Formats: sequence, C-alpha cells, structure tokens
Amino acid sequence: MCGIIGCVGRGTETTDVLVDGLSTLEYRGYDSAGVALADGDIEVTKRSGTIDDLREAVAAEGPAGEFGIGHTRWSTHGPPTDENAHPHTDCTGDVAVVHNGIIENYQELRDELGADHEFKSETDTEVVPHLIEEALEAGADPETAVREAVSRLEGSFAVAVVIAGTESVFAARHDSPLVLGLGSDGEGPTDAYYLASDVPAFRAYTDRVVYLEDGEFARLSPDGWTVTTIDGEPVEKTVDVVEWDPEETGKAGYDHFMQKEINEQPRSLRQGLSERVDELAGEVDIGDLAYLNPRGVQLVACGTSYHAALYGAALFREAGVPAQAFLAHEYASAPPPVGDDLVIGVTQSGETADTLSALRAARSKGATTLAVTNVVGSTAARECDHVFYIKAGPEIGVAATKTFASQLTALNLLATGMVPTKDDRESIAALRDLPADVQEVLDDSSAEAVAEEYLDSDAYFFLGRGLQYPVALEGALKMKEITYKHAEGFAAGELKHGPLALVTANTPVFALVTGDGEQARKTIGNVKEVEARDAPVVAVTDGQSDVERYADHVLTVPESSPRTAAVLSNVQLQLAAYHTAAKLGRSIDKPRNLAKSVTVE
Ligand code: F6R
Repeated sequence: MCGIIGCVGRGTETTDVLVDGLSTLEYRGYDSAGVALADGDIEVTKRSGTIDDLREAVAAEGPAGEFGIGHTRWSTHGPPTDENAHPHTDCTGDVAVVHNGIIENYQELRDELGADHEFKSETDTEVVPHLIEEALEAGADPETAVREAVSRLEGSFAVAVVIAGTESVFAARHDSPLVLGLGSDGEGPTDAYYLASDVPAFRAYTDRVVYLEDGEFARLSPDGWTVTTIDGEPVEKTVDVVEWDPEETGKAGYDHFMQKEINEQPRSLRQGLSERVDELAGEVDIGDLAYLNPRGVQLVACGTSYHAALYGAALFREAGVPAQAFLAHEYASAPPPVGDDLVIGVTQSGETADTLSALRAARSKGATTLAVTNVVGSTAARECDHVFYIKAGPEIGVAATKTFASQLTALNLLATGMVPTKDDRESIAALRDLPADVQEVLDDSSAEAVAEEYLDSDAYFFLGRGLQYPVALEGALKMKEITYKHAEGFAAGELKHGPLALVTANTPVFALVTGDGEQARKTIGNVKEVEARDAPVVAVTDGQSDVERYADHVLTVPESSPRTAAVLSNVQLQLAAYHTAAKLGRSIDKPRNLAKSVTVE
C-alpha cells in the first residue's frame, strides 16, 4: 500500500516524471497523492483524491525543481485528507518525506520530539522529517541526518527524502519494496536516476534497475548513485535489466486494465509455458526444482493467491504428496513444517506482508521455501531458497486476473515436474492447448449478456467441486471486489449444509461443471437443488454432461483436462464479474478500499 517515487536529473520535466510515474503506481493506493520538488527551496503540492486531481493541482501551482519525490496513498494512519497526504515536511519546510509502510514506534518518537515540533497530520510518517530536522539542527550533514532518522524507525518502511539546498534524493528500505532506475541506455553517461516502489513507475525511461534490500540506503544525485547500509557500510549491488516493454503497462485501447489483462491471458500463459513443456517427451521442465523431492508441501498465500494455493495443494495430493494450503495470516496455527517439507509462498507481487511473514516463519523452522511470484526481484523472490516466476507480465488492475491463471498454470507445472505420474501426458497436452483454448473462451463468451440479465440480483453464488472449488471461491471474490455486490463461493457439496437457505429467485447460481465424471454428476445434483428453489442457474460447462438441461444460461469452455478446465472456467467468471461491474459503473481498476500490494499485516 502506498507507492513512492523519486527522480533526479530530469530538469524541468521532473514534475511530469513524478506525476506520470505515480499514475502507474496508483494500483498501490489511490486516496491521496502529492509531490515535493526541490532546487533551492522545497515546494509541496498534495491533495486527497486521485492522481488526476494531483495533476490538476500541479498544473495550477506549477511546482518545479530538479530533485523530486512523490507519493500515492492508501490510508493506514489517519483518513485521506489534504493534511494526511504525503509528502510531509518538518517545521522549517526544508525537509520533505514520502513513506510506504507503517512506523510502529511513531507515537514514542512523536512524544520524544516534544512540543517544539508542530505536527500537521495524523500520520505516522510525519515524525520522519522532524527527526531529520533535529539531526540537522544538531549539526549533522544532510545524508547523516537522514541515516540517523531512519535508524530510529521500527516497523516497515520505504522512504524517500529531499532537503532544501541539497542536490540529492535519499532513500532507505526495511520491509517495503524499493528499486532504483538508472537512466540512459547504459552506453553514454547516465543522465538521470529514479527510485520507486515498483519498476513501471520509471520503465518509460530506463530498463536498468537496482533492487534495494532491507536495511539499505541510497543517495541519488547528478554525480551518480550510491547504495550502502543504513549505517553507512558499503554494499555491492548488481544492475539488472527488466525484460518487459513499457507498453505492457498501458491500457492498449481497452477501457480498463482489468479488461486488458483478462484479454492478455493467452499471451501471458504462453510466456509462462514457454520452454517449460516438452509435449513429445510428455514432460515439463522446471529446472533444478524437479529434484526437490518434498516429503510434504505447505502453501501459504492470501486472497486470490490463496485460491491458487488451494488448487496447487490439490494437485500435489493427487500426485500422492501430502499437501495443504494455509491463509498466510493463519499460518501461525498450522502444524510446523519438518525436515524435507517444502513451503511454497504463492504471491503475485512478492510483497504481501502476511505471506512474507509466513515464509520467514517456515524458513526459521528449517523448511525449504519456494516463491511462486510474478515480480522479479520482489522480496519473496529474494528471500526464498528458490523462486519460480509465473511470467504473467505486469498486472495493474487491482483485481488479479491474468496472474491467477498464470499461478494455476505454474503450480500445475511445479506439481507435474516435482512429482511425475503416469497420467501426466493428458494434462501436458492440455497445457499446450491452453492459450488457444483461453482465446476461444474470450472470443465466444456470452458473459456480458449474463451480466446484463442478472444486474439487479440480490447476490451471486458460485458452486464448484474438486479443482473447480477454488475457482468458485475466486469467481465470488472477483464479483464482490469489483461490483460491491454480495457474492459467495461454495464447495458444491456444502450447499445443503447451510448455504441453500440463501438461495432465492433473485440469486443467480454459477455452477462449474466440466467433464462427465462423478464430480460433474454430483454437482448437477446440486444444480437441481437450486433450480427447485427457483434460482437462475448459469452453467459453466464444456458440454460433456447434461447440465445444460437444468441451466438458464450456459457459458461454454472447450473440452480440456480437469487441471486446465479450472483455468478456462475461471475466464468466464472473470468476464461475468467484469461486465457486471462495468454495467454498474464501478471503479473497476481501483475498487474502493483496496490496494494491489498489501505490505502491512
Ligand atoms: C484479489 C487480489 C488479492 C491478492 C492478495 C495477495 O483480486 O488481487 O486478493 O491476491 O492481496 O496478493 P499477492 O498475490 O500479491 O500476494
């Protein structure tokens, strides 16, 4: 939550670079935003509202400076008001700070600073410029003053700081992401430097990046960039080159990022499967991970990623390895991993605080950890023993779509690669066809008509069994988070143990019925139960069973293996949620109260 950016060396363009960069970070928080520009003095422009509101304010006030920082906020301490928006300044107005994270000891620090320091906001962040002010007054040079202030902070933070008259941007991180961008093409002298919570903020200007680790401190100035520990010890950093294009972070003509990302799934799945499937040999290639040979598997995750984890656990169990998925924030009550257990953190961003905590706990108990993530260089990727990238490309819409499909597919590859079974050939062939099958769903879906017909419903229910159960949960999560309507996903067999009481003529039930086996037959039994209570039924089916007979609408998916059928059914549910939200005029890419990257527990 919250996105920060900094820039040095773009002259009169600095303000635009900051505001444009913030608009790519808006998925991290979008209730208020601001920038501080420094040359001689510091000029701060900040507002509650969106980045577009900030853009208007900046156009009106015209702040300018070579050195700048910016922030987009998702409130933790204090409501989204102009005063609580970042950057925050000290009493003199010469120090400006942006911050992502939570400063746990801020009250103590505030008390210590005493009545001489007047606070204008209710935020935890505001102690930082005042601590820097104290250090400067005590005679410290600007860099030392920032180091001293940052070393007093407890909790999680990525901070960026400008100080009047100092031709630099300072930054430090602990438990919140921060990455530097090095301008120029790498051949001539580097002409500008950037820092941000995430690469898209400056990807338009450079592909050369340096990921900061916890406890590191950076200084960007026209003379170059340095990274040390917060205490000033030198550290050696490597420069990475990001592989994706800047266009991948635009809307490409779609109305919403979510719509674009749903439609990108054939391509993102191709990327994730490329060079990992050898259909002729009936094998997948997951590199050295194939030799992990886990005795048991625990998966930890939150939200959509937890639904992927439920699916992954089922695949390992199918292959004969004891496996269980845990909500990361409930992992403390899980049986501790032992010896050869593998603990897999499923996290698109690689920054979810609860998931990182669970992975750290697992590591401290001696388990081997594996991050299944989308973000190269993310904290999960760096902290785990192993990493498997889902390769979905940047996802900007707050509601996860293409990354869920890629997570399911990555877990499919991992389970198959680690624990091969005699049944793999069919599911490997289905993996090869998956991108084209998803395209077929996208081309032929009638989900928009379903959305229109049931727009006024009281609630939406989703039923699935086996590998379709996590998809039912995910379908409901997608529906509720972007439409703000009541939606619930159920294991189909659970229906008559309570949820059936909720079913009425105004609660459409989406039933996931693929294949023609025992599970399909039993779910059709549940469909009949809701039909008898007058609920409209939307069957998501590959046509192998006779569920259509009992359905008011059918959303068709191509015939596939059970593993890939889950991915295909989910695309129909994504489209149903998207079109419902679009028709209701909801804020699809930035649903109220949510942020994409939840970096606080
Ligand atoms: C819902 C959604 C969230 C995330 C959850 C975990 O659409 O995106 O539920 O799945 O916050 O995020 P990651 O995967 O980044 O750990």
